Amino acid sequence: MATPVVELRILFFFFFLNVLSRVSEGSQTPSPSSPPVVSRIAFGSCSNQSSPQPIWDAIVDFDPQVFIWLGDNIYGDKRRPWRVFGKERTLGPWKNAPRFYPSDEHHMEDNYAAAKANPGYSRLRNKAKVIGTWDDHDYGLNDAGKEFNGKNTSQRLLLDFLDEPEDSPRRKQAGVYTSYIFGSNQKQIKVILLDTRYHRDPLSSDGTILGETQWEWLQNELYGPESQITIIASSIQVISNLSATTGPLFYMESWGRFPKERDRLYKLIADSKRDGVLFISGDVHFGEITRNDCANKYALYDITSSGLTQAVEKAVPPLLAFLVRFAVRLTPTTMRVYSPKCRYSTCTYGRQNFGAIEIDWDAVPQRVKIEVRDVHGDPAIGVNLLLSELQQRNVNKIYRREEAYRQHCTLEIDLPWVHRYCLALLFGGAIAATVVALGILIKTITSFSKRFIRKYKVD
Ligand SMILES: *[C@@H]1O[C@H](CO)[C@@H](O)[C@H](O)[C@H]1NC(C)=O
Ligand SMILES: *[C@@H]1O[C@H](CO)[C@@H](O)[C@H](O)[C@H]1NC(C)=O
Ligand SMILES: *[C@@H]1O[C@H](CO)[C@@H](O)[C@H](O)[C@H]1NC(C)=O
Repeated sequence: MATPVVELRILFFFFFLNVLSRVSEGSQTPSPSSPPVVSRIAFGSCSNQSSPQPIWDAIVDFDPQVFIWLGDNIYGDKRRPWRVFGKERTLGPWKNAPRFYPSDEHHMEDNYAAAKANPGYSRLRNKAKVIGTWDDHDYGLNDAGKEFNGKNTSQRLLLDFLDEPEDSPRRKQAGVYTSYIFGSNQKQIKVILLDTRYHRDPLSSDGTILGETQWEWLQNELYGPESQITIIASSIQVISNLSATTGPLFYMESWGRFPKERDRLYKLIADSKRDGVLFISGDVHFGEITRNDCANKYALYDITSSGLTQAVEKAVPPLLAFLVRFAVRLTPTTMRVYSPKCRYSTCTYGRQNFGAIEIDWDAVPQRVKIEVRDVHGDPAIGVNLLLSELQQRNVNKIYRREEAYRQHCTLEIDLPWVHRYCLALLFGGAIAATVVALGILIKTITSFSKRFIRKYKVD
């Protein structure tokens, strides 16, 4: 049995241990002035201000610290109906009117006011920092680029919507590109928001998307101080080039349509030797995750979430949604990330969705989970990454052993043509079959009626 003196010493010993551990804990927790660590980010695109927007509840439930708008934050332009005949024809080779036309400033202002007044979105604004860029419909006109006259007005309206301070330099520059740093102390996330509209050359020019000033700025951003994760937000898809397999029926906007510009982007990222870079994108009205294994030392991912209200499967009656999924099957893709966990075997998601990024900074090793979630907040597609998979020094260790490495390297345009033009061939084939069937039907009817008339005359 210990004497009281010994017991007292033991007590003091534990007391000191306790104090010591508190002090060392204190040195690990950031001081109150350092920015809070961000581990949950949501993103989304394509939101019709006049449609019901139930998805905000799921986004608020996800409890993000940051929400990123990826464009088509409102539908500011106006559209004419599909019309094959009549004075304003918007469809067919005899089309004489564009389907979309710009609206005026007040109309856009009203649309932004409607978007901002949505109760679900208001709740999100109250709890998360909201940032964003634009795409064509909030820029002011479908598929528009640098030629669009209303761009300065649209810039002011977007920045008002995003509560950009009056004296912000972002209000004085040409275009809405900008960047943010979140977190501190080896837990930093840089978010780079690109402007793919203000300086963009016409589609099929293979010209510029960003314009020289924005390129210089982006170079500085990528060569600047390191961050553990760098999210590059582009309104249009960077890695997927679906147009290569949906053409010649229809084409989508994407970096793939500007091959020189996209190569420049890949090269800039590779040359910068920056770790932790990934893309997020919107625009296409469905969710998809793609990956390019050969553009950079480590794999580049592009997580597409689109849209918050606009979705390809919503464009058709519910009973025909399977046709949309069937069409997706007929558009092969070389870059899409397939996983048994996808809700549908196509690994795309054609209903309303949002993107959810979760970073487990405290896990060893650190992890990133990115999902495209449905209107209830349930994941439809997703990818789980170790942060080290996005670091150059680990690439040899992680990938080279794996068969899967360099799986996503072939461009869509290099697919064999029978494969590449599946959709067009089937569509063309269906039209040809219909024409032939109609021809046979008409021929049969005429020959029958001739025989009938002959018989009638003879009788
Ligand atoms: C937005 O929603 C309204 C109301 O449902 C609809 O009239 C309008 O056509 C929609 N706009 C777009 C671009 O889908
Ligand atoms: C639009 O804004 C840019 C940059 O602030 C300026 O250089 C340009 O002259 C403006 N264009 C018009 C038409 O006002
Ligand atoms: C993407 O597809 C379009 C349409 O087929 C094609 O013109 C373009 O060159 C493709 N881009 C790349 C980078 O393969």
